[in-house]
Amino acid sequence: MIFDTHAHYDDEAFDEDREELLAKMEPSGIAGIVNMGASLAGVEESQKLADQYPFIYAAVGVHPDEVGSLDEEKLHSLYELCRRDKTVAVGEIGLDYYWNKENHDTQKQWFVRQLQMAKDVNLPVNIHSRDAAQDTFDIMKAEHAGTTGGIIHCFSASAQMAREYVKLGYYIGVGGVVTFKNARVMKEVVAAVPMDHIVIETDCPYLAPAPHRGRRNSSLYLPLVIEAIAGIRGMTPQEVEDLTYENALRVYRIFGDSRRNLQTQGDYHGEACKPAENN
Ligand code: NI
Repeated sequence: MIFDTHAHYDDEAFDEDREELLAKMEPSGIAGIVNMGASLAGVEESQKLADQYPFIYAAVGVHPDEVGSLDEEKLHSLYELCRRDKTVAVGEIGLDYYWNKENHDTQKQWFVRQLQMAKDVNLPVNIHSRDAAQDTFDIMKAEHAGTTGGIIHCFSASAQMAREYVKLGYYIGVGGVVTFKNARVMKEVVAAVPMDHIVIETDCPYLAPAPHRGRRNSSLYLPLVIEAIAGIRGMTPQEVEDLTYENALRVYRIFGDSRRNLQTQGDYHGEACKPAENN
């Protein structure tokens, strides 16, 4: 079974065929998906998707490009959504110095506030970092330091920094980039990080793996990411699939070894998806 730890199925790229596409997930072995918050509207849409589909979970957070829309009242409403049954993470949050849509101080301020929120509600984080590797790491180390754990999504820094994050207890999110011919550093990262700290993700609709590069991505392409990791690690794709699935359940604290276990617990409304101490 496959777990997509970071997706954006609320994106307009899926407006045409969202239901049809999501209906294909479980029959194709995609047993879990976490839909990320990015904008405030995206946070709401993620909740709706999680309400509608048993295999979709929600993350609550505002992307660095969108933090200008936050204020105290809106942050308060995010806290409320964090307490819902199928919210499994705070994300995606972080720093983006590539697009630079918000100034760095504003980005840092709301990154720290949302990291604090993750600590307050005891949820793991999902971190976005683009062209901001050192600032992201410094803030993570100073403010968060593995308190709740989480995933560094679409990891793009050095293998050495990946190891530092793992030391702090974080997981490394690997997606379509690992299949690109020129992705030398990403391949080094996958070789360097312990297998029990690697999770897979799409970031769909973005970052489709080769040979679909440049087209709309979806969780159905994750077997290509699994194959690439298996090649680098000298493992079978099945081994990588099983390990990354278990890793995803562990980092997001989704209770049970498999979807089958979740379903045998009677009427599934998501209550069973988090451990008792996490409230
Ligand atoms: Ni994303």
